[in-house]
Amino acid sequence: MEDKRQIVVTGGAGYIGSHTVVELINGGFEPIIIDDFRNSKPWIIDRIQKITDTRVNVYEVDCLDEKSMQIVFNENPGILGVIHFAAYKAVGESVEKPVMYYHNNIESLCVLLNVMKQAEVENLVFSSSCTVYGEPENPVVTEDMPVQKAASPYGATKIACEQLIEFAVASGQKLKATLLRYFNPIGAHPSAEIGELPQGVPNNLVPYITQTANGLREQVTVFGDDYNTKDGTCIRDYIHVVDLAQAHVAAIQWVDKQSGKVCEVFNLGTGKGSTVLEIIHTFETVNQIKLNYRIGKRRPGDVEQIWANADKANKVLNWNCKYGIEDALKHSWEWEKNIEPE
Ligand code: WQD
Repeated sequence: MEDKRQIVVTGGAGYIGSHTVVELINGGFEPIIIDDFRNSKPWIIDRIQKITDTRVNVYEVDCLDEKSMQIVFNENPGILGVIHFAAYKAVGESVEKPVMYYHNNIESLCVLLNVMKQAEVENLVFSSSCTVYGEPENPVVTEDMPVQKAASPYGATKIACEQLIEFAVASGQKLKATLLRYFNPIGAHPSAEIGELPQGVPNNLVPYITQTANGLREQVTVFGDDYNTKDGTCIRDYIHVVDLAQAHVAAIQWVDKQSGKVCEVFNLGTGKGSTVLEIIHTFETVNQIKLNYRIGKRRPGDVEQIWANADKANKVLNWNCKYGIEDALKHSWEWEKNIEPE
């Protein structure tokens, strides 16, 4: 049989996408990036080359453009599978622009599923989020815990896309899928060549911390210290982006080996929770920096505490996290200092 090594990575110039492209190359695969750079930068491709000594094939295509998507698949007859990252991901923005979120995130998946069917590509890895669990009864979540009503249009698109993939598999389309529910991705490549590039003022904790340390923001506000946790601040499961990227390589390899109707959910987290203050103090310690922060009010919509039970991914995908929050916060800072000026 032909040895298919080509993996289409939509959103492959983005934060998790670019790290996954690097890990695919390290794993002997040939990634093909589809990205229209609306939320990423073309120079990330040069940085991937610097890390891997490989020039990746890139198609500057909007995933909503079905004709152009077909061309990618027609020009590359050896595609083994697709890792689908391309989507809008800002919770706050989704509340302002729900139609834009539904249109982009759901319609692009519809296009992708059509194109995969035509090209007879069977393997799909989908980016989902722990946001589908809402505020869980037990903070340690397993994959069989119920999906809750979404708190934001962003979360709703993740739930809808998960369901669409389940229905597509059940419908008889030759499709095998993994739905990867990420906890909180942080960190950057240890080379400091690629990392997260927030647009405007960051919403997420770690980019806000690194930008404050770098003088771009004045102060970090801790959103509430009156929660029912050890130090009163919220608990999350912060996973290093390189560990997360490696899970995608494991997932595409696993799903390729399966047969029949497959649609399997995996939590991707470290299995450990950290409070906001632990993140801040660990950042200060590992980087020898004093961070300007203050305690503020709670942020509406925040879940008090949630972390992953990642036993299923550990066992089934034979994947484990290699990095802790210390490494991740060091790498985030190294990256912040190395970001290409505009
Ligand atoms: C982490 C913790 C904040 C900023 C969201 C989405 C989720 C996923 C990742 C993906 C919380 C606190 C934050 C700040 C703070 N989406 N915080 N001061 O909310 O867990 O998850 O992003 O693509 O679906 O819901 O991540 O990084 O915003 O917050 O105190 O300036 O840090 O309250 O406890 P969150 P986050």
